[in-house]
Amino acid sequence: MTQLYSPALPALRMGEPLAVYVHWPWCKAKCPYCDFNSHAGQPHEEAYVDALLNDFTELREASLISASENDSTAVLGRPLVSLFFGGGTPSLMHWKSIARVIEAVADLGTAQADFEVTVECNPTSFESPADAKRFFDELSVAGVNRVSIGIQGLNDEALGFLGREHNVADALRTLDAAQAVFKRVNADVIYGLPGQTPVEWETLLRTLAGRELAHLSAYQLTIEPQTAFYSQVKRGAWTPVDSDTEAHFFETTHSLLQACGYENYEISNFCRPGEACRHNLHIWNGGDYAGVGAGAHGRLTLRDGTRLATRVVRQPEAYLCAPRPPLGSIYHTAKLDATESVQEAIFASLRLATGVDSDRLKKRFSDSAYEAAVDEPAVAFLMAKGLLNTRPQGFALSTAGWPLLDLVLQQILRPLPVPQA
Ligand SMILES: C[S@@+](CC[C@H](N)C(=O)[O-])C[C@H]1O[C@@H](n2cnc3c(N)ncnc32)[C@H](O)[C@@H]1O
Ligand code: SF4
Repeated sequence: MTQLYSPALPALRMGEPLAVYVHWPWCKAKCPYCDFNSHAGQPHEEAYVDALLNDFTELREASLISASENDSTAVLGRPLVSLFFGGGTPSLMHWKSIARVIEAVADLGTAQADFEVTVECNPTSFESPADAKRFFDELSVAGVNRVSIGIQGLNDEALGFLGREHNVADALRTLDAAQAVFKRVNADVIYGLPGQTPVEWETLLRTLAGRELAHLSAYQLTIEPQTAFYSQVKRGAWTPVDSDTEAHFFETTHSLLQACGYENYEISNFCRPGEACRHNLHIWNGGDYAGVGAGAHGRLTLRDGTRLATRVVRQPEAYLCAPRPPLGSIYHTAKLDATESVQEAIFASLRLATGVDSDRLKKRFSDSAYEAAVDEPAVAFLMAKGLLNTRPQGFALSTAGWPLLDLVLQQILRPLPVPQA
């Protein structure tokens, strides 16, 4: 990986469809399980949105997201796939701020007919169901067409354990308000909590499936370093569920939601036919995306076919105080070589039901990069063991392999040389 700190960026391959990720780094409170770049504290909304808009301009002028190879300031032409407001809790933003960002992004290229605009929301952002409904109506007018609500669970005790500041009734009322406005609504839920029973989890899944939600993200609780849960588990305050129980919850989720008409298109994501999250699919399939806002990551394809990784400074205050233009100060960029790019693509696409398209990766990054990245005998061995299935162009996890994703990745990705400092 070549580290680049200079604003002089290598030439990009233009015309690639582009997704845009905007990070909002503040929440009302920090949840004890969460290691996202989220901070409890007073948002500096106006200054932050000004900074986002400034960064779009700077990035465009630096050719990062311009539309044509010959004209670094051309703004028309590059197809825009999606815009995703993630966090943190972007539902704490004023709808007018969201509208300003949507307008600025629309200037970066040509929005595709099914341009998807998603906002992540937390039920604690609303004072009443009427307030939630008003916010969703305003978002819809601003151009948002999909919302994702972090309800996390449908049991007040479980929500208390997760440190959530809303109860089940608040969660369901927020979903009602969202579904009254949007056809495309996702709910985030978490399983594998200590003491959670299979019956309780099945009831939650049936309740949500019965509401005809377009999309469900069901995450297994993970204990992340530097979270409050990590310290609690380390000092023995409670014990996470064992891997057999985790696998059981995973299999129940997979089979129950499939029986209710949902497609399990990614390890933690389920959708009604045609309702997959276009933004995430684009990224998991190796598409270009610009990441803007504190801690945001991006990936952009260079003219030689390799990729540029971008990362913005994480602390919101550092992001706000950084001198502009941003590329030398808040943007860290690194050029991924072809082998790293293949590994990254496999890391993402193995999570998908469609799996890894080895032929496409070889064509895009070369046969030798693929061979250096992937231990092909290990792939054959895991196929023989029933953890991977063959696909016409590559391979995918089998039903037995899905709960063992991390182990499979460890086996099939070759260790890469550590870059010299
Ligand atoms: C950025 S948050 C979503 C929006 C909003 N901040 C909220 O929490 O309601 C993304 C989602 O990641 C999931 N998540 C975060 N940390 C997790 C962990 N350690 N284990 C499992 N799921 C986690 C939660 O379901 C959360 O809704
Ligand atoms: S789970 Fe959501 S609300 Fe909780 S700290 Fe993380 S980003 Fe914020």
